[in-house]
Amino acid sequence: MSGRFYVTTPIYYVNASPHVGTAYTTVVADALARYHRLRGDETFFLTGTDEHGLKLQTEAEKQGMTPQAFVDSMSERFRGLLPKLLLTPDDFIRTTQARHEARVQHWWARCRESGDIYLGAWEGLYCVACEEMYTEKELLPGGLCPVHERPVGRVQEESYFFRMSRYADRLLAYYQRRPEAVRPETRLNEVVSFIEGGLRDLSISRTSFTWGIPVPGDPKHVMYVWFDALFNYLTAVEDQGRAGRFWPPDVQLVGKDILRFHAVYWPAFLMSAGFEDDALPRTVWGHGWLVTGGKKVSKTRAGGGVSRGTTDAVRLADALGADALRYFLLREVSFGQDGEWSVPALVGRVRAELTETVGNLLNRALPFLAKHFDGLVPAPGEPTDVDRALEAAAESAARGAAEAWGEPAPHRALEHTIELARAGNKYFDESAPWKLAKSGDVARLATVIYHVLEVVRQVSLALWPATPSKSDALRAQLGLEPLAGHVGADLWPHTWGGLASGTKVAPGAPVFPRYDAQQEAQIFAALDVSADDAAEEKPAPAKAEPPPAKKAEKAPEKPVNDAPVPPITYDDLMAKVDLRVGRVKTAERIPRKDRLLKLSVDLGEPAGPRTIIAGIATAYAPEALVERQVVVVANLPPRDFGGGLVSHGMLLAASTADGLTLATFEKDAAPGTRVK
Ligand code: MSP
Repeated sequence: MSGRFYVTTPIYYVNASPHVGTAYTTVVADALARYHRLRGDETFFLTGTDEHGLKLQTEAEKQGMTPQAFVDSMSERFRGLLPKLLLTPDDFIRTTQARHEARVQHWWARCRESGDIYLGAWEGLYCVACEEMYTEKELLPGGLCPVHERPVGRVQEESYFFRMSRYADRLLAYYQRRPEAVRPETRLNEVVSFIEGGLRDLSISRTSFTWGIPVPGDPKHVMYVWFDALFNYLTAVEDQGRAGRFWPPDVQLVGKDILRFHAVYWPAFLMSAGFEDDALPRTVWGHGWLVTGGKKVSKTRAGGGVSRGTTDAVRLADALGADALRYFLLREVSFGQDGEWSVPALVGRVRAELTETVGNLLNRALPFLAKHFDGLVPAPGEPTDVDRALEAAAESAARGAAEAWGEPAPHRALEHTIELARAGNKYFDESAPWKLAKSGDVARLATVIYHVLEVVRQVSLALWPATPSKSDALRAQLGLEPLAGHVGADLWPHTWGGLASGTKVAPGAPVFPRYDAQQEAQIFAALDVSADDAAEEKPAPAKAEPPPAKKAEKAPEKPVNDAPVPPITYDDLMAKVDLRVGRVKTAERIPRKDRLLKLSVDLGEPAGPRTIIAGIATAYAPEALVERQVVVVANLPPRDFGGGLVSHGMLLAASTADGLTLATFEKDAAPGTRVK
């Protein structure tokens, strides 16, 4: 690790309240900052608000407010979101602050001294929502802005220009030498072909409105909002006297919509202001959008987002809690790609992975401590092969997650961590501690319970960048202090055995409570999830989580069953029901169908694997199913789920108090074998 880490988000326009799309980038940045703090790196995380420009002046006028009063009140909404989402920036910058205005004027003067700023006439097609000029060719049919799908305006005024054209060659040479400066690679290609297409000089001042930073020496001009805004990344670290330590930024997170500003204009401004190549930002990361029904979630277009749940970040944080919202955003979206926003999907994922996998693991182990070990973490005995396999799984999860956070690929980092929690549950099942307790094998019981608790400790650490308050709550039950980074101290769980024997545990209420159907309906109603979406895609009915003390010592729960079925003969069974061994080859989520997974299942048939649509998404993450053996009802007629989804079979599963569980086989069985 570098020992220092500077991460930035874009600064947000304050023309409307924060929504889940803008919260997304800040959550990713916060998780990266927390990860680096855990690793002992000196970390600086910057976010803030972008407060100048015509868009804001117009919005303030509409509200009958002065621009300053308007941006003050709106910026407060973004700042207010920080504690609600457990966001921990080291500075929150506002472009109307004096510290920023003075510095931007300084950078303007530097660019002018370089001969890169000249006075000219500005004429063209302008989208106020983007604050960007477009050519006819770039517009959608009907002359609409390609991002906002709204009409652009024709503008003409005197303006200062920046000699962007002068920087094309240097930028191309720079990206050739340092391709990692724009990521992912596909975005670098977009940037390079944009530059190769030729760079036009850029208009960087306006005279048609006044809400901006005055141009030094010519105050009838105000600066173009992007010239002003991009320099925020320097203002904050300079103002805190930390530029020497933190400049240049390690990762600048930006939505793909504003990549061009950050990967073309921004380095060109810096070059002009006298920055050498090695003082340019190390990586600009162009991530995807949160979308609903394929459309970007945004303040100017709520789009199809209404029925899938509100997109208002404050309402979401209030109703769902910070940890759940953060976890979903980091885990669901493959970082870099677009990701579907949906409250029912969030509830389903949190239940399957946090409640039923992580929370469950702790709740299953704690009762053994009270009953057999005086509430103290027991000392493990000599490890068996099974124990060693779990230890190895933990070490590889920690390594995999660290690599993924470093990339950054938060979705993969969390997958490694959840995989470890799953391995912990499997170990618990296979070690059957309730049997050890019954037979009085306390020594082996101690080893098993120690291993489970150490897995929970490691999971709590590795989840902390995503779910800080829930991680600390898990740790509190293990008798451990809340986490905080210390410069120079690497707290990552690289090695097995950090949990000290003799630690007093402190069992409490379940860390990830399980909502019953009524509570869930209330959440959906509070968040504008349409009844249709909630009914169709609501995860399987939830049951209240039993109190931990009663739960774990029992063998599996008694089945929750439907009415008895009239008897049939064996011949009937064999003649009518064709059950086969299946092996899952691939599994994926289905956009807008939160309860369903699309599987391809090998039944040993020459035609290849079958597509089976299964209502198990709330209980199983798709990745966890690949290569699993399942029991398939193979002779049902195809079932049409709409939208081109047809299922050619059904998986057998039982609904237990712990959720849905798939029928499987104890030993390997060849796909297609008849089950009888
Ligand atoms: N003010 C400029 C940025 C200046 S940075 C020097 C701006 N602001 S914005 O509020 O319109 O959007 C800022 C960022 O919010 C986007 O680039 C992106 O990071 C994030 N997002 C806004 N909507 C989003 C989604 N629907 N999904 C993911 N991120 C989104 O542009």
